[in-house]
Amino acid sequence: MGPTRSLLGPIGLTLFLLAVDAAISMGLVSSMVSFLHHNGRGPFAVASPDASPFLLAGEPVNFVANHGHTTNAAGGTALIVVGLGGSIALWLERRERNKWDRSSSFFRIWTVLVLLSLLLTMAALIYTLAETAKTGGQAIDIAVARMYSHPSKYPDGRWTPENWYAAVLDLPLASANQRRVISGNLTIMRAWRWNLVALFILGFVLLALVVLEVLGMRKRGLQPVAMMDTLTTPLKRVDV
Ligand SMILES: *[C@@H]1O[C@H](CO)[C@@H](O)[C@H](O)[C@H]1NC(C)=O
Repeated sequence: MGPTRSLLGPIGLTLFLLAVDAAISMGLVSSMVSFLHHNGRGPFAVASPDASPFLLAGEPVNFVANHGHTTNAAGGTALIVVGLGGSIALWLERRERNKWDRSSSFFRIWTVLVLLSLLLTMAALIYTLAETAKTGGQAIDIAVARMYSHPSKYPDGRWTPENWYAAVLDLPLASANQRRVISGNLTIMRAWRWNLVALFILGFVLLALVVLEVLGMRKRGLQPVAMMDTLTTPLKRVDV
């Protein structure tokens, strides 16, 4: 059997796409957080045609945010551990192969990190989809909102930011500008939820390529060397 082709090229490309997507994910979440701390706080003037206007506080009493933190952690791990760590792993691996025709054990250690990062992304994805589904389909009761108007907060239900601001948009808001800003930021919240799916797929493809490559190395008889050898003896030729 001929030697299997090296997958280091496709791995590098997938790694790059994953790092870019992870950076996008972190950017989207942080722009949501910034919205929550600024215009998202409201209060929003609500003007129903048949009653006097009132102010609604920007946040409900029960705001769910942990899925956002998990998403941020997953994005950070994918960017730093997989992206940056992977660039180093690929560089060391290429060097070991070209110089010594052997493999760096850093690459195998990194394989485990790719798996752990994928599991974290999967947790963030499942958590986010579950919270969004669980708190979805609610509407803000305008009589309750009036009773608990600003500076009180809307007391009923649990809400993810996405579901809350979607329900706010269903109210007769007095300001077209506030409506526009909420609507724009709602798009960002939906984007980061769906971007998690892309992050998961890229992570999965990367793991598959990396595992195939490690199996291929075995077939080709590329011996892994210890970390310390990779790092400390780049110039000394070992006769085998
Ligand atoms: C999101 O909200 C911020 C203010 O918190 C606003 O400056 C920005 O324009 C909004 N984004 C979109 C896309 O509407």
